[in-house]
Formats: sequence, structure tokens, C-alpha cells
Amino acid sequence: MQNNATEITQKGLAALNAANDQQTLEITKAQYLGKNGELNVLLKQLGSMSPEERKTVGAHINECKNQFQAAYNAKRAQLEEAKLQAQLDAEALDVTLPGRTQELGGLHPVTLTLQRVVELFHSMGFDVADGPEIEDDFHNFQALNIPQNHPARAMQDTFYVENGDVLRTHTSPIQIRYMLDKKEPPIRIIAPGRVYRVDSDATHSPMFHQCEGLWVEEGVTFADLKAIFTDFIRRFFERDDLQVRFRPSFFPFTEPSAEIDIMGENGKWLEVGGCGMVHPNVLKNVNINPEQYTGFAFGIGLDRFAMLRYNVNDLRLFFDNDLAFLKQFKA
Ligand code: FA5
Ligand code: MG
Repeated sequence: MQNNATEITQKGLAALNAANDQQTLEITKAQYLGKNGELNVLLKQLGSMSPEERKTVGAHINECKNQFQAAYNAKRAQLEEAKLQAQLDAEALDVTLPGRTQELGGLHPVTLTLQRVVELFHSMGFDVADGPEIEDDFHNFQALNIPQNHPARAMQDTFYVENGDVLRTHTSPIQIRYMLDKKEPPIRIIAPGRVYRVDSDATHSPMFHQCEGLWVEEGVTFADLKAIFTDFIRRFFERDDLQVRFRPSFFPFTEPSAEIDIMGENGKWLEVGGCGMVHPNVLKNVNINPEQYTGFAFGIGLDRFAMLRYNVNDLRLFFDNDLAFLKQFKA
């Protein structure tokens, strides 16, 4: 009977050892230590033994039960530990992974340029005016002294939309809107915005940005235009010795007219805008008396300003949305 208990215990210990989950472990325990478990059943047989025998065999069976219980406790602790470890592994935090950062955006170089232009003219007393990007023929052309079928229309390759409306080809229609609205001089504004033309090369983009300037008051002359514009452009580029050239030209809405060129770092002239004295017909079109008032106007290409300011040799780079390029201009 003693050997019997030892045998059963060996079998039980092997079963405990083989149990790889909590459930199997508990079933194994019940098989041996449960009320009708194999070791307890042995105890019930003690009754048929002599007192002497009962004592030694009983003590041995209890020892076996203790041994089994201890092995069960150890196995149970081991399974719990393994379970915890698995859970920790599953929820592990890998501190070597790169963090999820939030990247700071920046302003587009053309926006930075525009802000700078607005700031400088604001300091010289110019207000900022605005107008729609889809214009009608009257504001974009006719009121600017460009009649229907006039050859001057060919100067700008226009995107036409419905009903003869156009994507504005320049910011000059904002002059018309502002003067019709304001009615009486003095008028001193700049008007920045997007404009559109059927154009595409290293210095021409189909969508680009202009900033219009307009000063109408009694006694304004071409000398004022040259002085104001030269002052502005030298402040913009922070160079007192910047070379500026007013090259005689033609615009239907100014007389006389000029294109404004500046000398780039590469020693080449780059046209940055057009300008002139507001044509008397334009003033008449917006009900301002050209005998009493004169004015000057200019329209500059902001993308060209950005090219020169940041030394970029292809204007299309501004519109490719390549972050490697754009990140260089973070303000
Ligand atoms: C005009 O658009 C006139 N409205 C300017 C003006 C205003 C003259 C008021 C007189 C009085 P022009 O077509 O030259 O002019 O364009 C003005 C400037 O816009 C150019 O000097 C150039 O800097 C820029 N520009 C013109 N076309 C493009 C283009 N496709 N892409 C980028 N910049 C351009
Ligand atoms: Mg031009």
C-alpha cells in the first residue's frame, strides 16, 4: 500500500509537470487530491489496517499528499508567472520607435513675399483692396481701355469661362472696382491676388500672383511713381544700390507706360512689373475727372519677387508642392 501511494504520487507529479495551462492543472489536482481523488481514496482504506500499520501508512500517504500539493503550488505559480510575462510582452512599449511628432507648417515663400509687400506699402499709407478671381469682360478689359476685338487683348492669353467671363488676367480690374466704389480721390491702394494666363515656362506660370498699386490724387506725377516704387523695391530687397530700370512700354490703361526691370544677382535684368500714369479714358470710365486728377498705377509679379528674394531660378518650383523645397522657407 505504501508503494501504491508512491506510485500514484509519481504519476500525479508527472501529470502536474505536463499540465501547461491552469485548467489542466486544476483537473489534475482534483484527480489526486479531490474528495474522491486517488490519494484520498487510499486514506479510506486505512480502516482495514492494524493500528501500527495505519500509523506508518497514514503518515506516508500524508507525506505524499504534501509533496503533491507542493508540486501543484509550484506549477501554479509558474503558470501564472508565464501568463503575466506573455501579457507584458504583448503590451510592451518599444521606446526605440520614433515618436509621433506633429510637424510645424510654414508659410509659402510667395505668401511671405506678399506679406512683406503689403507691410511696406502699408507703412507708406496704402490700403489693401480685393476683387473676384472670375471677372467679367468689363472690369478685366473694357473699363481698362481695352475694347472688344482690340489687338491689345492678345498681350494676355486669357482663360475664358462661361458667358464671356474670364479668370482675371491681371489685378488691374481691382483698380476699376475700387474707383467705382470709392468715387472720389484721394485713392491710394494696393491689391494683391491670384491671376491666370495661358503661360508656362521657367518665368511664367498659368496661375501666378500680382500686386496692383494705385494712387490717384491732384498733382500726382510720373516722378512720384518712380520715387515711391524705387523706394519700395530697395526696402523690399534691403539694398540701397539695387538697380531699377523703367523701360518704356505700352499698356492700354496707362499713358505713358513702362515695364520695371531690376538687376538680378546673375547680372541679368528681370521684368518684375508694369506701370504708368492712369490713362484719362480709364478715369472717365470710373467717373473721375481727368482734368482735375492724375494718378499712377503699377502691377508687379509677386512670384518674380519671390524668385529674386530667395534666389530661385525656376518659378514652377513654387507650385510643385515639394516639401523638401518648401521647408527651406519656414518663417
Ligand atoms: C500687367 O499685367 C499689367 N496689368 C501691369 C500694370 C498695372 C501696368 C498697372 C500698368 C499699370 P504684365 O502683363 O506685364 O502687366 O504683367 C505684370 C507682371 O506680372 C510681369 O512684369 C511679371 O512680373 C508678372 N507676370 C506676367 N506673366 C506672368 C506669368 N505667367 N507667371 C509669372 N509672372 C508673370
Ligand atoms: Mg509685361
